[in-house]
Amino acid sequence: MSSADRTTATLDAVVTLADFEPIARGRMAGPAFDYVAGGSWDEVTLVENETAWQRFRFIPRVLRDVRTIDVAGAFLGRRSTIPVAVAPMAVQGMAHPDGEVEAVRGAAAAGIPYILSTSSSRTMEEVAEAAPDAERWFQLYTVRSLEYSRTLVERAEAAGYRALMVTVDLPVLGRRERDVRSGFALPAMPHVDPAAVEVETGRYGGLELQRGSGMTWGRIEEMAAWSSMPMILKGILSPDDAARAAELGMAAIVVSNHGGRQLDRAVTAPDVLEAIVRAVDGRCEVWADGGIRRALDVLVALALGARGVLVGRPFYWALAAAGQAGVEQVVELLRDELELALPMLGCASVDEVGRELVVERTGSWNG
Ligand code: FNR
Ligand code: LAC
Repeated sequence: MSSADRTTATLDAVVTLADFEPIARGRMAGPAFDYVAGGSWDEVTLVENETAWQRFRFIPRVLRDVRTIDVAGAFLGRRSTIPVAVAPMAVQGMAHPDGEVEAVRGAAAAGIPYILSTSSSRTMEEVAEAAPDAERWFQLYTVRSLEYSRTLVERAEAAGYRALMVTVDLPVLGRRERDVRSGFALPAMPHVDPAAVEVETGRYGGLELQRGSGMTWGRIEEMAAWSSMPMILKGILSPDDAARAAELGMAAIVVSNHGGRQLDRAVTAPDVLEAIVRAVDGRCEVWADGGIRRALDVLVALALGARGVLVGRPFYWALAAAGQAGVEQVVELLRDELELALPMLGCASVDEVGRELVVERTGSWNG
């Protein structure tokens, strides 16, 4: 079978996002698969991420005009095919030989934003060249020094990245016991010149020492002035922190527990989303991530007040299974599911999905 035939056969067998994972497991080295799939400590939060969205039940509305359905979303004022972006994820070269280059082409073809991790397998310039017109954003880890991080931000702006996402929930790395057992180590980051930043040779290439960079609330405004890219803080779970981010002029925040990979037993996004949306009070966009596997999860997030969501692992598995075509298929499946669910909910567009359409299933409901 040719590789194109193999890809077609793979894609035909995929009915929903979850189907990509076993295919990826068969194609990736065991320790790499576990690094991606795993979480921290007992993986309590990892498991809860997927079930948390399912606590909510819909109260559909009927007899509304749903002859035409618009599933498009918008991030920072730019249209996206669906209200979903590809979450920043490290070392996509472990999923596909062309890694981020292949992934960004998939996101661009599907018409959704792609967020490139500082710890990528390809440089930001290579990724930019692969998809010059794509909606590309750069996710920053302040590897050791803020001075050096500034050079990364300037390179990103020069290479046409349109937003800067600073991840704030990783002062140190979560305890990933799967990696301890397998001996997994993160490959070096090609963006980062080891001599310039004295990167330590830890399991995660120095990321485990990020707190040494001195990134604090006091530095956020200064970091925002490093470029003209709108800035987003990723990894917020407290309404007070969300309010502070909004006060500092952030364009958006991502309500996230880092896919259950950082502080285990942290709350999930749906636990705090509504309170955060209230605290932010329209001053910036609020997005959420963690465990989103169905359009129904996306709809719950929107109903709770998120403007959009990020999806992580399913894109990684799809990249391993079928490269660019896999990434495109994730978007297609979510789009099809949205097109089916919206009319049943009584909505003609994602903008009509409001808080009144969901209820949290904590017991019986008599509201
Ligand atoms: C991540 N995540 C992440 N986040 C980030 O800001 N920078 C990064 O480099 C990475 N790297 C990374 C690698 C892998 C393998 C995974 C699975 C995740 C977290 C990611 O952006 C996102 O918050 C979660 O993955 C969302 O949860 P789901 O959709 O994977 O459940
Ligand atoms: C991770 C880092 C690299 O979650 O974000 O593995």
